[in-house]
Amino acid sequence: MFDNKSYVIWNNKGGVGKSTIAFHIASVYAELHPEEDVVVIDMCPQANSSAMLMGGGKESEDILQQLISKDEPQSIVGYLTEATLNGDADLVKYITKLSPINKNLPENLYLVSGDGNLELIAPLLSERAEATPLSIKDDPWVKIHTIVKQLTEKRINPERRSVYFIDTNPSFSIYTQIAIVGGKNLLVPINADDSSIFAITGLFNLIWGTSTEHPVYGKYTFASKAKKQGLELPKIAYLLGNRFTQKKGAAHAFKALSNEALNKMYDEFKKNPDKFEDFGVTISDISDFESNYSIELRDFNSAGVVAANQGLPLSKMDRHTYEVYGERIQVAKEQRELCKQTIDDLVGHL
Ligand SMILES: Nc1ncnc2c1ncn2[C@@H]1O[C@H](COP(=O)(O)OP(=O)(O)O)[C@@H](O)[C@H]1O
Ligand SMILES: [Mg+2]
Repeated sequence: MFDNKSYVIWNNKGGVGKSTIAFHIASVYAELHPEEDVVVIDMCPQANSSAMLMGGGKESEDILQQLISKDEPQSIVGYLTEATLNGDADLVKYITKLSPINKNLPENLYLVSGDGNLELIAPLLSERAEATPLSIKDDPWVKIHTIVKQLTEKRINPERRSVYFIDTNPSFSIYTQIAIVGGKNLLVPINADDSSIFAITGLFNLIWGTSTEHPVYGKYTFASKAKKQGLELPKIAYLLGNRFTQKKGAAHAFKALSNEALNKMYDEFKKNPDKFEDFGVTISDISDFESNYSIELRDFNSAGVVAANQGLPLSKMDRHTYEVYGERIQVAKEQRELCKQTIDDLVGHL
């Protein structure tokens, strides 16, 4: 039987398209793999991908509110709370099947909803992680940090593979650390600005540590604790060049920036290929690296943006105009097809 797959989408930078990409790839992956179960775990307190998956707009806000205000929240907070208290939790209690809420989505797509209270429980999770161990075998830090990893090893149906997509918050707070440890593979979106490229260095330092450790703070970092405890970390699978504009000059500028991002990644790869997924190919230079570890997403244009806003997988986007907050938006067929092709290509790699 196939193992589960799990992808965590993270860059230590906001607004690079993490949630939009999570929405598109999860919905398209689920459509293309009806024999598998697909679960989005929304580990961002803003719950943007949850709202997209629930169809967007006021209705999705109301449903989200219902889920998170239950005594035992049907959300990531509910799961984390029970799993922290009992050492384990039943996945089925915390997932929401999406097709009854958003009829455009396939039957095999589920959500562990985002929840603003993640911010509230973060200090409690940190406190528990830092607790003094009670015995040689007790390791509270590892227990808390692997709590979502435990979840992504579960199956919705025992006889089918479950595939997880984890959306994240850019901050490296404890719940983001838990999200990162929860995925077997890391997808790193970047867009065309310097800060999302600087964030790549930050990403390596935060997850794997800096080459020289700070004499005081060094031992308190996630990276040094993870190393000390032998915690398994995700392998980087793809750098996703999320290009927001198709204009000629801008495209040229983007290429320069994305080359810089690629150089940084390739330097890391040369230092330690173990941080990257092994695709079973020999990488001898940067162009081998680029063709195996980097995927260029074009501007999703109005098609991708409107589709995510309405919780529509691109395959279901068959109209010419859509209404977004009272405005009629034109979405040309050509744009819909380009965007669909882009997402299908990316999903083909997963
Ligand atoms: N490829 C893209 N083309 C056009 N707009 C995009 C693209 N990716 C993301 N966006 C837009 O950029 C904004 C930020 O995206 P979002 O997914 O919320 O980022 P993050 O989750 O990283 O903060 C949103 O308004 C989204 O519609
Ligand atoms: Mg987001």
